Amino acid sequence: MSYNPYLDNYYSKEAKRQGYRARSVFKLKEIQDKLHIIKKGDIILDLGSAPGSFIQYLSKIVGPKGFVLGIDIQKIDSINQKNTHLLQKDIVDIVPSDPDIIKVLPEKIRSFDVITADLAPMTSGIKDLDHERSIELNRKAFEIATWYLKPNGTIISKLFEGSDTQAFEQEIAPNFSILKRYKPKATRKKSKEWYLVAKKK
Ligand SMILES: C[S@@+](CC[C@H](N)C(=O)[O-])C[C@H]1O[C@@H](n2cnc3c(N)ncnc32)[C@H](O)[C@@H]1O
Repeated sequence: MSYNPYLDNYYSKEAKRQGYRARSVFKLKEIQDKLHIIKKGDIILDLGSAPGSFIQYLSKIVGPKGFVLGIDIQKIDSINQKNTHLLQKDIVDIVPSDPDIIKVLPEKIRSFDVITADLAPMTSGIKDLDHERSIELNRKAFEIATWYLKPNGTIISKLFEGSDTQAFEQEIAPNFSILKRYKPKATRKKSKEWYLVAKKK
């Protein structure tokens, strides 16, 4: 399918109309509408959250009994929802039982039902380099998932397609089973990105 600027424009306008900070939300929404991964009351970790449209949407789904922790290397402006917490941190620095994470989680909670990772490296325009950086971010996101995701919990993570994709999928295979590789309609058609939906074994 060729690049359709009108469709791109539609999602940007629609995000604005619905009060979302980014059009990215429609990609997550499509995955959720199809796979129903996120449930009311869920505890969610969102990696690469800025400007915050995923958190806005996740906060609505999980409701007052749920919780969403958003982490980004950049500052995320307040969402003004009691069930959210925002942390400015490089995900590379996250460690098991990270005090920055543990101290902001609701009492007794130490793991997440779902991890969403819409991480994107600073794109260079060089396809192979952007792919390599995306794989590195995914490697870290899946490592974080081995520490923080509940058994049978799901991770939804964005990948930039390239030569190492298959090798990466094999690398995570001992700990995760892949449920789906998904390219939402809301993704810019020119873009090489798609989402890996995987369950922790
Ligand atoms: C496409 S944006 C995410 C959009 C977001 N899902 C939303 O709905 O608004 C990708 C984000 O990944 C973040 N990012 C990239 N590398 C990171 C890292 N090492 N640690 C934390 N965040 C990172 C970027 O700062 C950027 O905000």
